[in-house]
Amino acid sequence: VSSSKAEGTPRLAVLISGGGSNMVAIARACASGQVPAIVTLVASDVPEAGGLQRAQELGLTTAVVDRRSLQRDGRPDRAAFEATLEQQLLASSADFVILAGFMRVLSAEFVNRWMGRMLNIHPSLLPRHKGLDTHARALAAGDAEHGASVHFVSPELDGGPLVAQSAVPVLPDDTVASLSARVHAREHMLYPMVIQWLTSGRLLWNDGKPLLDGAPLETPVRLA
Ligand code: GAR
Repeated sequence: VSSSKAEGTPRLAVLISGGGSNMVAIARACASGQVPAIVTLVASDVPEAGGLQRAQELGLTTAVVDRRSLQRDGRPDRAAFEATLEQQLLASSADFVILAGFMRVLSAEFVNRWMGRMLNIHPSLLPRHKGLDTHARALAAGDAEHGASVHFVSPELDGGPLVAQSAVPVLPDDTVASLSARVHAREHMLYPMVIQWLTSGRLLWNDGKPLLDGAPLETPVRLA
């Protein structure tokens, strides 16, 4: 993955906690030129996250900000965790922060500093199924369709302004594994597409609202 692109190329910090398949899709889209940006940092709050090795194999700079090692009075110290994470983001000169399977809730103070410059992908058709275990909940609810959403991050968990979504059918014999695989495949197209809009200037953050191609995004774009 090239890190020698021209000055002025938008710089992405990608935050992960797990396997990092979305991070890989984003890094490949940058390397191929589909997304006009470079990934300058892949940071994980989980030292064992499989995505860290995948990032290293792609030649990307990685960092671990281990919440468990940052304790105060025997308890995880969120302020210290966020301060360390912020240092890493600033050291990478990130223009945008891309949450890609990052499973920590960030404080309102942290989010507000990056408002309009931080995206998240969530494995459901928001506002349905905020939070965890979205595939199991879509199955339990008998949903006919499910999918993934990309949104700007706001202090409300999974509640920031939506940018784009991709829906998949829920099939009669689906399991959590089969449904999650179908959603993941869509995520790998959806997220690079939105990051392309953001880094090319098509998607702007205007006073708390997303603008796409100069028009307010009243409803999220639906990827076919
Ligand atoms: C993705 O499905 C992403 O939508 C989800 O975690 C998975 C990470 O997969 N994110 C959340 O649930 C955030 N609340 P990956 O590590 O293979 O990209």
